[in-house]
Amino acid sequence: MNQLTQKERMLLQDEKAHEEICIQKYGSYAVQVQDQQLRQMFDKHRSDEVQHHQTLTNILGQGGQSAGGQAAGGQAQSGQGSPSGGAAFQWNAANVGQAGQAGVNQDVMLCKDLVVTETFVSGAYDTAIFQVTDPQIRQTLEHIQKDEHQHGADLSGYLKQQGISG
Ligand SMILES: [Fe+2]
Ligand SMILES: [Fe+2]
Repeated sequence: MNQLTQKERMLLQDEKAHEEICIQKYGSYAVQVQDQQLRQMFDKHRSDEVQHHQTLTNILGQGGQSAGGQAAGGQAQSGQGSPSGGAAFQWNAANVGQAGQAGVNQDVMLCKDLVVTETFVSGAYDTAIFQVTDPQIRQTLEHIQKDEHQHGADLSGYLKQQGISG
């Protein structure tokens, strides 16, 4: 299962790094949002991203060195609704103050930020899926991609529900 070309390996390592960012963002944003519904969605997505990260780690094998990988994945279990998601990414309400009031507006900001992130990550998965030749790995990546599409749909659905077109 580990017959990866150098290019394939590079693309998967990029995806692994993207998943780390997703884990950090969802963890950090979940404790910042006001809306419980959004918080639950972020927690759910975060646990998906942890699984994606683990899957990529497995594909790349132990030789796929990534400094931040273990730390990001390791926090996974404690992540359910707990504020341990990390403070690496902080949308400071004061910083977005000019855009409007904190609270609801900040929720929308964080949600939109994640739409952008998911769109980027999903695009990168497309590139990897077209590149990878091993049918089993392709299938695994397509499964992850399906999750990313669902994340995007969840986020856009929330924004629509708030009367925002995304
Ligand atoms: Fe993911
Ligand atoms: Fe995602």
